[in-house]
Amino acid sequence: MANLRLPGPTPVPPDVVDAMSKPMIDHRGVIFKEMLLRMTSNLQVAFNTKNDLYVLTSSGTGALEAAVTNTLSKGEKVLAVSIGNFGDRFSRIAKAYGADVVDLKFPEGESAPPDSVRQALETDPSITTVLVTHNETSTGITNDIEGIAEVVKKEFNKLLLVDAISSLGSIKLLTDDWDLDVVVSASQKGWACPPGVAMISFSDRAWKAYENSDMPKFYFDLKEADKYLKLGQNPWTPAVSVFYGMDHALIKMLDKGNMQETWDFHASIAQYTRDQISSIGLDLVATDIDHASNTVTAAYLPEGITDESLLGMLRDDYDIIAAEGRGKLAGKVFRIGHMGHVTTEDIDGVISALKDALPKLGFTPQVAE
Ligand SMILES: Cc1ncc(COP(=O)(O)O)c(C=O)c1O
Repeated sequence: MANLRLPGPTPVPPDVVDAMSKPMIDHRGVIFKEMLLRMTSNLQVAFNTKNDLYVLTSSGTGALEAAVTNTLSKGEKVLAVSIGNFGDRFSRIAKAYGADVVDLKFPEGESAPPDSVRQALETDPSITTVLVTHNETSTGITNDIEGIAEVVKKEFNKLLLVDAISSLGSIKLLTDDWDLDVVVSASQKGWACPPGVAMISFSDRAWKAYENSDMPKFYFDLKEADKYLKLGQNPWTPAVSVFYGMDHALIKMLDKGNMQETWDFHASIAQYTRDQISSIGLDLVATDIDHASNTVTAAYLPEGITDESLLGMLRDDYDIIAAEGRGKLAGKVFRIGHMGHVTTEDIDGVISALKDALPKLGFTPQVAE
């Protein structure tokens, strides 16, 4: 089996694959109801929240769209904080639905300082809502959401929507303690499940915004999700097999007692990955190293080496699937995922393949003294 080192989808452990091969059931029947209610309450534990939480059949982007269309109105002024491609996407969704978006962008490799968010909110008091990415998967940087939330919620009392798609499950995020109104994640990331299911938590404050929101919504109307959750159902036909997998993966994750062990593991494997990449002589995209991501490492391609040649060689000669750059970093970087299911041996495999492959492409890796 290939060493799948994408920042999602991640490898799916065999027990999760087994759990997903159960026979199909009635998605409006009692077995599904039990599973949905158990999954929802386990997700609330993993999100560290007592807020409402909905499981949607979609990829993460669908839940980002739900976050926007269920809280905002056309012409409403929002601040979109972006440190890369996925922050830009959140902004584009809000623009597509007619929000009046003020973009606050930072160069690739940096995190968004809470002070800059404060300045932006001071400059324009008509901003009602802030959109922000927790972990920017295109650059390998994790924003200080706790610090940003202190400003957005405690100082300015605005609505805060958080894309935690590539962080939750692997990186610490405390929805209630940090007072995050809407938090989004997706099954193929830190949860080590296949793609197809997205999760969204929704605070009382978000429900108040819902009442005033005039953006069009149908498939992702959370009032519908809420009405059906009370019946133990989804409004529409859910991806039942992926639900089986998520249900099993969550039980396993929470069986460990608390999430701290999982967060610590990802912190240490991320540090190991960065150390190894730097020791070869490759440059990390993360210049703001204190905010380097615990779920994905991005590194610049050495001069003269294309992503096609490096990723192609890793795939064909070493059975390793790493990711290309996204957005402005397309063609300039490659990325190694270490979210969800990952071992030190998986990372060692990538590093030894890089040491072997790079010289063949014209770059001489450094050798430790
Ligand atoms: C931070 C972030 N936001 C949004 C997305 C989009 O999620 P999806 O591809 O599941 O729609 C991703 C996927 O890589 C992501 O990492």
